[in-house]
Amino acid sequence: MGIAERFIKNPHMSREEYAELLGMEGDASVRELLQTEALHLRERYFGKKVYIRGLIEFTNYCKNDCYYCGIRCGNRNAKRYRLTAEEILECCETGHRLGFRTFVLQGGEDPFFTQERMTDLIGQIKKRYPDCALTLSVGEKSFEEYQAYKDAGADRFLLRHETADESHYRLLHPEKMSLSHRMECLCNLKKIGFQTGAGFMVGSPGQTLETLAEDLLFLDRLKPEMVGIGPFIPHHDTRFADQPAGSVSRTLYLLSVIRILLPSVLLPATTALGTLDPFGREKGLAAGANVVMPNLSPLSHRKEYDLYDNKICTGDEAAECVKCLGRRIHKAGFELVYERGDAPEI
Ligand code: SAM
Ligand code: FES
Repeated sequence: MGIAERFIKNPHMSREEYAELLGMEGDASVRELLQTEALHLRERYFGKKVYIRGLIEFTNYCKNDCYYCGIRCGNRNAKRYRLTAEEILECCETGHRLGFRTFVLQGGEDPFFTQERMTDLIGQIKKRYPDCALTLSVGEKSFEEYQAYKDAGADRFLLRHETADESHYRLLHPEKMSLSHRMECLCNLKKIGFQTGAGFMVGSPGQTLETLAEDLLFLDRLKPEMVGIGPFIPHHDTRFADQPAGSVSRTLYLLSVIRILLPSVLLPATTALGTLDPFGREKGLAAGANVVMPNLSPLSHRKEYDLYDNKICTGDEAAECVKCLGRRIHKAGFELVYERGDAPEI
């Protein structure tokens, strides 16, 4: 039996086996086998459903200096903004009217949004939209602060681990940040009872099959309810400006692998994937993804949440994005649904 068949039979493998599996990406028959299995599993847990989340990029201030990121604090050219509570609530209102039942508040690690301001905001959103799930993606905080977010009503939390390999992590982040703290945060989020999302960029500088194998081992250990992966895309104001972008085909291969590793996981077809390939999101769904996250941020600030170059949909009204996505998803043979789309209880 080949490595792919063995993986399908029992996806809990060693580092060496994962690296071998990842090394088979060039083999069309392996790609097809994994994709077929991934689609079969996705169908079993979710049918043809694709969940939609409304992304609100509420601040691009950040105290961190992740070397790959366009809004890192060291980028003096970034034009900074933060939305007021009223503006954030207006985004939710627009989203709710369009049928969204999950809002994702994402931002840099902005010290302005203290625990008190965050819990206040979470409370207001949950009070106004009790039928909606609220996802946060605001970086590394203490156990107590995460607990306070949960107590205020937040349901889910996205915190990509970025890489599970120590030396790779060091290449991407300044001394002040640490992989062990990021991982501790993820464990705390799980302990507190958040539906938790980990993830990483595909093709980030220094990534190898071995570091990716570490990522799979980590996902297998953590068992997150959500996994966000998308290709790395260089940003012109970073030290990685001249590095190549991650590959679309490797991202698709990994989406299938992750669907098989964690069959009931919520797995977005990301904007970064759609940025590198005009049909990237459709291809992502066909590889095993089951979530899309269009932008609800005000048009006046869209371009300023500038993580990487040439990001798509920065000029489209949310209503337009939803219509366009609905059409594309239907055409790809899936069905856009407006439920909360919680992680299934297994
Ligand atoms: N501050 C929060 C955090 O650290 O989790 C959330 C915001 S952060 C900008 C969201 C994600 O964007 C990161 O986890 C990273 O994987 C992704 N990202 C940043 N720069 C990127 C780039 N150049 N290409 C692709 N994705 C990128
Ligand atoms: Fe903080 Fe990118 S460095 S959001």
